[in-house]
Amino acid sequence: MALLPDRSLGLAPASVRDYRELARRRLPRQLFDYIDGGAYEESTLRANVDDLAVIHLRQRVLRDVSELQLATTVLGQSLAMPLVLGPVGLAGMYATRAEVQAAQAAEQMGIAFCESTVSICSIEEVDRATTAPFWFQLYVMRDRAYAEDLMSRASSVGCPVLVLTVDLAVVGARYREVRNGMAGPQRLPGRIVQALDFGLHPRWARDVALRGRPHTFGNLEKAVPGAISPDAFKEWVDHQFDPSVTWDDLDWVRRTWPGRLVLKGILDPEDARRAADAGVDGIVVSNHGGRQLDSTPSTIAALPAVVDAVGDSLEVLVDGGIRSGLDVVKALALGARACLVGRAWAWSVAAGGRQGVVDVLRTMRGELEVALSLTGAGDVHALDPSALLDGDGRPLGA
Ligand code: FNR
Repeated sequence: MALLPDRSLGLAPASVRDYRELARRRLPRQLFDYIDGGAYEESTLRANVDDLAVIHLRQRVLRDVSELQLATTVLGQSLAMPLVLGPVGLAGMYATRAEVQAAQAAEQMGIAFCESTVSICSIEEVDRATTAPFWFQLYVMRDRAYAEDLMSRASSVGCPVLVLTVDLAVVGARYREVRNGMAGPQRLPGRIVQALDFGLHPRWARDVALRGRPHTFGNLEKAVPGAISPDAFKEWVDHQFDPSVTWDDLDWVRRTWPGRLVLKGILDPEDARRAADAGVDGIVVSNHGGRQLDSTPSTIAALPAVVDAVGDSLEVLVDGGIRSGLDVVKALALGARACLVGRAWAWSVAAGGRQGVVDVLRTMRGELEVALSLTGAGDVHALDPSALLDGDGRPLGA
């Protein structure tokens, strides 16, 4: 279904931010806050976006940019542009079977989709609905046999890349979720407000609450059986997230996983070097979208030192605050091979399902094309820091 101009917006949604606004109107408050929010004071969440905004693009003219090159290879996979839909948990609560819709959108646009461990649709459901290979994201669990089973399931449907998320040894509190009753003690008045909130979003109630069932964790059906609830999820997280994991555990993952291995959640050059020494194929410079340790540097600020530390020994991807194709150009110019987006696709799938994600990806592609043209780079592989200026318009780093 095409996304019709939304009268309540006053115009058709154009940018990623418009989709955020649509998602805000369409989702119950708890779910919107779950996507939108960050840890503690949300300073890292803001920094991810703000630090990108203060980097300027260097406009160059009269270069032949009639042939643009957006296609690239990431971890052995050909992508039509350097973008990946990153792992986003609980997506099937934002739109009908949303992981399937997003994976189909990614396939349509020639980019990769990464399925989260804590998805509503299972690995197998996404596989049945798509033909392109998709990636799988894993949290290291105490129950190693369960994690091995998940790796084997992902491998048997042909996932080429395992993204091991390493920045969740403990869970950073998100105060918005405490305030809106999604996390913390559930009291009766709060439950009544939540029920009313769900009832006040009839489109969501029809598309997700009714037509989007079953609301189970498709990859965790044995560990967290039955319909999801904040309590059941929290209990699973508390029991299964393993704070004792170390670099030594990578050997076990390496032995179990036959494909490419990526560590997600690297922010420090020393950790990046360690990852290269451990022989992983790639890293994602990430602070979990500002949802874990608040007060860390933004990912765009952390990226250059990480790139310097690892050189060409592995592929460096980045996420956090990517809201446009212009942001992608900035990240690539600072040495990233590709960007992952989280909220951009979560908002757009909530706003318009598969078509919403396709529209947002087309928008980002258009922005990327214009930025490649007007910086004179023309090719995503030709970008380097010389395409950028600092906030005062001086060459970056001068
Ligand atoms: C996430 N992220 C995430 N990461 C992961 O490894 N596994 C997961 O299940 C989730 N779940 C999740 C849910 C939601 C609602 C969000 C917003 C994020 C983090 C995600 O992969 C990515 O690192 C950030 O979203 C990137 O920042 P932006 O693009 O959202 O600013």
